[in-house]
Amino acid sequence: AEHMGDDLAEVLFTEEQIQARLAELAEQIWTDYQGKDVLLVGVLKGAVMVMADLMRHLPGSVEMDWMAISSYGSGTKSSGVVRILKDLDTDISGRHVLIVEDIIDSGLTLSWTRANLESRGPASVEICTLLRKPDVVKVPIDVRYVGFDIPNEFVVGYGLDYAERFRNLRSIGTLAPKVYS
Ligand code: PRP
Ligand code: MN
Ligand code: MG
Repeated sequence: AEHMGDDLAEVLFTEEQIQARLAELAEQIWTDYQGKDVLLVGVLKGAVMVMADLMRHLPGSVEMDWMAISSYGSGTKSSGVVRILKDLDTDISGRHVLIVEDIIDSGLTLSWTRANLESRGPASVEICTLLRKPDVVKVPIDVRYVGFDIPNEFVVGYGLDYAERFRNLRSIGTLAPKVYS
């Protein structure tokens, strides 16, 4: 395989920039949830890197659970079809839930996920996403923690895939046109 760096047109965020922003978000989250037990709920598979690094920036112990929800399949556009591929192991009634995501694009995945989790009687549900795209205005969602607002470009790396590839890049960037052809 070629080096993945050759497939990027532009690096939007370096590993260092991502970690610095996650550290800031973790500090804010820790302050906001003082005295409360927080359950981090990651959305597979894109959120694996954000979850792993965000939780390690938190100074105290938290719980973690996962849902697998897919709305994209293998393409670059949302299909609009949201499916639960794996549900939570945890009963979240009375719990403070913080959903952890890599990116909000159309907002379809998160508005659906949040409504689904809210129907289970949690004490609270908030959202933390590393990236947010401008199209999210189509579906208004209240997002408490946002790492970076980005332009409407398809990005990969740090958990984000194109046809399941490039998740293991440490930085986030746009793909060179040759990758699509
Ligand atoms: C991607 C991304 C978000 C969602 C955002 O997941 O990780 O979960 O799309 O898009 P939306 O705001 O338009 O709904 P995807 O469905 O590609 O699954 P993956 O995390 O396994 O890559
Ligand atoms: Mn995802
Ligand atoms: Mg994907």
